[in-house]
Amino acid sequence: MSTPTTRETPWWREAVIYQVYVRSFADSDGDGIGDIHGIRSRLGYLHDLGVDAIWLNPFYPSPQADAGYDVADYRDVDPRFGTLADIDALVSEAHEHGLRVIIDLVPNHTSSDHPWFRAARAAAPGRPERARYIFRTGRGPGGDEPPNDWLSNFGGPAWSRITSADHTPEQWYLHLFAPEQPDLDWTNPEVRAEFESILRFWLDRGIDGFRIDVAHGLAKDPAMPDLAGRYATSGPAREGHPHWDQDEVHEVYRAWRRVSDSYAGDRTFVAEAWVHTPDQLARYVRPDELHTAFNFNFLLAPWDARALRLAIDQSVHALGKVGAPATWVLSNHDVTRHVTRYGGGELGTRRARAAALLMLALPGGAYVYQGEELGLPEVIDLPDAMRQDPTFLRTAGEEKGRDGCRVPLPWSGTQPPFGFGPPGSTPWLPQPAEWAGMTVEGQAGDPGSMLTLYRTGLRRRRELAALGDGTLAWVDIGQDVLAFRREPGFLCVVNVGNRPADIPDELIADSAVLLTSGPLDSESRIPAATAVWYGRL
Ligand code: GLC
Repeated sequence: MSTPTTRETPWWREAVIYQVYVRSFADSDGDGIGDIHGIRSRLGYLHDLGVDAIWLNPFYPSPQADAGYDVADYRDVDPRFGTLADIDALVSEAHEHGLRVIIDLVPNHTSSDHPWFRAARAAAPGRPERARYIFRTGRGPGGDEPPNDWLSNFGGPAWSRITSADHTPEQWYLHLFAPEQPDLDWTNPEVRAEFESILRFWLDRGIDGFRIDVAHGLAKDPAMPDLAGRYATSGPAREGHPHWDQDEVHEVYRAWRRVSDSYAGDRTFVAEAWVHTPDQLARYVRPDELHTAFNFNFLLAPWDARALRLAIDQSVHALGKVGAPATWVLSNHDVTRHVTRYGGGELGTRRARAAALLMLALPGGAYVYQGEELGLPEVIDLPDAMRQDPTFLRTAGEEKGRDGCRVPLPWSGTQPPFGFGPPGSTPWLPQPAEWAGMTVEGQAGDPGSMLTLYRTGLRRRRELAALGDGTLAWVDIGQDVLAFRREPGFLCVVNVGNRPADIPDELIADSAVLLTSGPLDSESRIPAATAVWYGRL
């Protein structure tokens, strides 16, 4: 087995990491749900795409109340997806393909089916079994009101009440997500020790890193004050919020960094921390904490030159102060796919193509969410009866939820399941008939396809010494244009506006066009919603 080579720059400072949403990537056994064997069979595709690593969404045993983010056993694999031996095989085969493997770790909450929570329910109030979670007595007569006014991210109160064996209402427990996802109490040393042991379990198996789910949620203000309408529950967390981004989370990550640093081979962490400002985010990636964090400010920025530039500048600046690289993300399994966010249809696709070249040219690392390399749009017309996201269920359909970005990938053929599963199998979410025109097979040989753009962009990114880790220098060309240089000899120009933009000749005098996101009439005139990479001759 050959492990990926370590270059001078640690790989995680500039890696392009492909997010494999396991249940929707490739289904080898025809049960409609993607699995580990399916991923193994497609490693050649990922290698040819040109990414450096894969991040796997949770594959652990789980009742799947929140698509696996409700973990019942952190040291095993859900039989729906495979076995531990399959994961071991996947990791070693991925390494043979030069791909690192990052797995999802869910420390904020367990499944309500986790043995710890079962024990907590069965134990009397005040017992140590309860102290791993956040149980409190209710307010009001008979303790019938929740202990405070905190809300679940998926809608409804963040507290549920348990009943004793004789059905008497009892204490309440906190769940910032679904009731099936009780929050752990991270002030309890037993919880901390358990997660360090889980980290070691996977590091010992050769995993290259972890994506930390809800990294900003682990610590809660011990006074548990009411929100009283002062803070939103969802969206990026503002400073002072009583259950997001509390200072105490950082102690946890310092301890984790000591664990990962004790292993050879550049193991890494990436934080999912939905915080409001880049300075808040930078605190997660100080030198003795996590290595990188998703850049949601970039993801949330609208298709607007000023907004994008601000998001880029603020991130590069705030992260640079602590010595951490930026990461650039356009889509993931929790947000509307960016083709759709950017306006949908032909316009959304043009913008998404330009955004891909922007993202890959920026300093740092990048994430590609499965299917974005095919230009998949959000599926907005899923039948309600098929929707599985707890957001949809807990808001009685008021919020449609995240199923529309989780529809299984179209690989080949002209009708569902489009090679996602064996012929005749039924994917867990229905694929639109129009995806017949978006399959990997159909796009592979097409020079104008999104897949070809990603493949070429990723190849060039590897070839060009200027790309990856480093810095950028802006060039002001016009208010709708983002232009920046990277040394040696690289210039990226993105016309975010709706009209063609002219590039001053002296800027590109000794440069050649290396790659464009759409056709150009002339080297110095960039059509609307188009990006161009220039390199010096
Ligand atoms: C993260 C995950 C999301 C999940 C939530 C609760 O935000 O990305 O999918 O629902 O955490 O674990």
